Amino acid sequence: MYNSVKKYLKVLVLATAAQGLFATAAYAQDPGHYGLGRIATEEEVAGWDIDVRPDGLGLPDGSGSVSVGEGLYEAQCASCHGLFGEGEGRWPVLAGGEGTLTDDRPQKTVGSYWPYASTLWDYTRRAMPFTAPQSLSVDETYAITAYVLYLNELVEEDFVLTKENFLTVKMPNAEGFFEDDRPDVKNTACMKDCKDPASIKVISTIAGVSPTEHLEEKGAEESEAAEPGNVHGKAIYKQSCAVCHDHGVAGAPKTGDNEIWADRLVPGMEAVVERAISGYTGEDGVMPPKGGNMSLSDEDVTAAVHYMVEQSQ
Ligand code: HEC
Ligand code: HEC
Repeated sequence: MYNSVKKYLKVLVLATAAQGLFATAAYAQDPGHYGLGRIATEEEVAGWDIDVRPDGLGLPDGSGSVSVGEGLYEAQCASCHGLFGEGEGRWPVLAGGEGTLTDDRPQKTVGSYWPYASTLWDYTRRAMPFTAPQSLSVDETYAITAYVLYLNELVEEDFVLTKENFLTVKMPNAEGFFEDDRPDVKNTACMKDCKDPASIKVISTIAGVSPTEHLEEKGAEESEAAEPGNVHGKAIYKQSCAVCHDHGVAGAPKTGDNEIWADRLVPGMEAVVERAISGYTGEDGVMPPKGGNMSLSDEDVTAAVHYMVEQSQ
């Protein structure tokens, strides 16, 4: 466990204790800076401190065999992950997929992708079975881990996994990971004569996903204030149309491009609104009816089109 996590735990205990001040006072050992709470006990920390690292640090004493793991796996894991780790329905696949990592559709499993066996041990104890996480004992976790490794043909069927032999398990893709060597991750922090942070503005967002309201130029806010009638159209637009029309995704005419919209408006506003409501396939792409949001009323769509046109004049 890392120090910062320990500090966090301490704060957590303090915060909880603060709610019951009087009860806490009775067993407070170390009142700390604010005279509240106590240091978490070793047992309490141990309950959270369950991470296992690639070098095996954190593994508790214990062991489990492939054959014991088989029974446990069939009872507690196979309903979702399949008898052979092939995955039932759309539940995650745990075995197979060797040599597929460079395919168009790579199959990333414990055997084909994971670089460390410790992740399997840690993840299984921490999070599985899905409906009852942390219900497995240490030995059960060793046994099930051994069995999943066996399903991936990484150990023999008479294998017994222990804390001592854990690092003998070699994961096929262990060498497949490397430090990101792209130049933009090697940015050095500026230490003097740096740019005033207030002058830096983040402008790249994912259309329709990142909230953009706070990035808007002053001018836009002012013009909206001048046309309070269009707040509704703007809201509909942001919610259902911006994802394509903000940046011209999939051939959508870009809102704000005066020339495009002048052409589009030649048949008249009514015709343009009608096409937005009913949808159509044009030369540039498919405009889905109501932008694909059928819960919108015709009035909503009309308001959104008016908003788009106003923004493009
Ligand atoms: C009720 C269905 C269910 C059961 C039972 C279940 N799992 Fe899972 N398992 C999941 C789901 C869902 C995920 C994906 C969770 C996520 O991505 O947040 C998962 C993910 C995993 C993964 C990570 C797979 C990957 O490639 O990311 C492993 C390993 C795993 N489970 C092992 C087990 C083991 C071992 C057992 C039995 C002790 C078990 N699971 C029981 C549903 C289940
Ligand atoms: C999935 C992407 C997508 C979404 C979402 C979307 N549109 Fe469109 N829209 C298009 C495309 C593509 C076109 C251009 C089709 C062509 O003319 O080839 C278009 C064209 C239009 C036009 C021009 C019609 C014309 O007569 O030229 C209007 C108006 C319009 N959309 C309004 C809206 C409104 C209002 C919404 C939200 C309710 C919306 N769109 C949502 C893709 C989208």
